[in-house]
Amino acid sequence: MERDPQAHWLETETALHYARAAVRVGMWASERVLIERHFSKSHRILELGCGGGRVALGLLQSGYPDVIATDFSPIMVSLARAVLADHDEAWEKIVEQQDATALTYPDACFDGAIYAFNGLMCLPRRAHRLAALRSIHRVLKPGGILLFTAADREKGAYAAYRAKEGEPDDGIPGDRWHESDTSPVFMHSSTETETRGELSETGFTVIECPLSTEVAADGPLVRQFAGETRFFVVRKS
Ligand SMILES: C[S@@+](CC[C@H](N)C(=O)[O-])C[C@H]1O[C@@H](n2cnc3c(N)ncnc32)[C@H](O)[C@@H]1O
Repeated sequence: MERDPQAHWLETETALHYARAAVRVGMWASERVLIERHFSKSHRILELGCGGGRVALGLLQSGYPDVIATDFSPIMVSLARAVLADHDEAWEKIVEQQDATALTYPDACFDGAIYAFNGLMCLPRRAHRLAALRSIHRVLKPGGILLFTAADREKGAYAAYRAKEGEPDDGIPGDRWHESDTSPVFMHSSTETETRGELSETGFTVIECPLSTEVAADGPLVRQFAGETRFFVVRKS
């Protein structure tokens, strides 16, 4: 029977995992470096696939006051609200349910967008990932910044892991189901060339795209939670 790549995100246990990460893992050192480099405190920032509120909490606690955190999963939205309200009751109002591939916000209303920890790559097919990039492009102001990550299947630690695991023989290159603490999770890993092509196709210009380990030395909790991934910081052309 064909597996549903979205089902994982609707499970209570998965949402609890991401809510715990919001509190225990927090914003990665590498995320913090790039966010401080490319986003200003006056920016209106949209977060996609916010999970348990990990990045939203880090942003709010770091003095970025104008944040909207979104996720398509109702249980993620509920737990992100709970995590944020635990710190400041007013913060739960910033979480909204939105599908990243079909955002309902007006055109050009955000200065920046963040799709953290390979969220874009959890979308099941190339067409979905392109739809999300187009949707984000539409709601960003001209010159607006998008930051996201994509595990690199050619370079670095994730590529080494894949080489050890071997290629599945029936899949699209980069598509893989990973074991997790809850049910298996679908993730596409890309190459830099592939992602650059998709960004160009959807109207973005790459500003920088370092591996996370080239940005900062993330601590052991982050390495265990996320491993190495590649950041893309891109501008709406
Ligand atoms: C790998 S988790 C990352 C969670 C969080 N950003 C973090 O870094 O802890 C991916 C997130 O994307 C969300 N997601 C999956 N498909 C989505 C979609 N179509 N639109 C919005 N969010 C989606 C999932 O519910 C999940 O919260």
